[in-house]
Amino acid sequence: KKDTFILGIETSCDETAASIVKNGTEIVSNVVASQIESHKRFGGVVPEIASRHHVEQMTIVLEEAFQEAGMNWDQIDAITVTEGPGLVGALLVGVNAAKALAFAKQKPLVGVHHIAGHIYANRLEKEFTFPLLALIVSGGHTELVLMKEHGSYELIGETRDDAAGEAYDKVARMLDLPYPGGPHIDRLAEIGEETIDFPRAWLEDGSYDFSFSGLKSAVINKIHNAKQRGETLKAEDIAASFQASVVDVLTTKTLRAAKEFNVKQVIVAGGVAANKGLRTELEAKFSETNIPLLIPPLKLCTDNAAMIAAAGTIAYEQGRRSGLDLNANPSLLL
Ligand code: KG4
Ligand code: ZN
Repeated sequence: KKDTFILGIETSCDETAASIVKNGTEIVSNVVASQIESHKRFGGVVPEIASRHHVEQMTIVLEEAFQEAGMNWDQIDAITVTEGPGLVGALLVGVNAAKALAFAKQKPLVGVHHIAGHIYANRLEKEFTFPLLALIVSGGHTELVLMKEHGSYELIGETRDDAAGEAYDKVARMLDLPYPGGPHIDRLAEIGEETIDFPRAWLEDGSYDFSFSGLKSAVINKIHNAKQRGETLKAEDIAASFQASVVDVLTTKTLRAAKEFNVKQVIVAGGVAANKGLRTELEAKFSETNIPLLIPPLKLCTDNAAMIAAAGTIAYEQGRRSGLDLNANPSLLL
């Protein structure tokens, strides 16, 4: 069978990325231009600035992806691009670049869902075994997705308010930690003690949904009340107690869903998958079961285009095609 080489393009948030992936499983090149430095002083991603950076970086990143791979356009079978969800202005840059290239180079075009990408980042490490359960935890997402076969996604739970990473970033801000705050809280949590009993939002019986806004408010109140009473709370203890609540809910619901749906594999995706507390607790919980747990390396947890090419390869092989009328869809459903 002939090898398939797929180009992936990702611009949904603050990373401009291009990658070439072989047969949906092997990274040939993977280039990511991060904008974190430009957004840092604002304490979060500024959409307008993100779009402008994508415009500046897109052709450079694409050229690098071909250079790193030592390949040319003749060898590319299809162009895949994140069509949503994400920031509309940011998405539009990638979608329009992909459309222009598909037209100019006469290549098939396939739009990809960003979360499908995060899930398929794992297939660059290890082949999938179905049914599988994916826990997606990032700055914009907290989802549990059941997959019975390639390219089929069943949303069984999602956040009703803040995403897990968003909660991390907001709590980090209250503690005057730099953006993005997740890694800083993670580091503090390691040295802190779980002295505060923050709430766990289990929601209704049997629900696989998540909610982190109540926890966020509880942290604000705790800090505020302590200040008023002149008490000093240690930042590392707040971090440890907050992280314990997030990790407890995420791991408990993931384990319950994995058992209920009798899955053969559990995979974790998104930036928060880098969290040490989450990794440790997931590994501990799943080591007591016979369900294999897969957490990708850090580079594949955060936004990149190899994951888009990997998910796009399956869509391409399944015959899915997008027209040149493909548009960015900031609230695209999985
Ligand atoms: O997947 P990602 O790079 O971008 C989105 O699609 O959102 O995820 C970024 C998010 C940020 O909220 C960041 O604070 C969080 O992932 N994050 C972490 C850690 N590393 C990154 N959160 C907790 N612990 C970490 N070690
Ligand atoms: Zn993402």
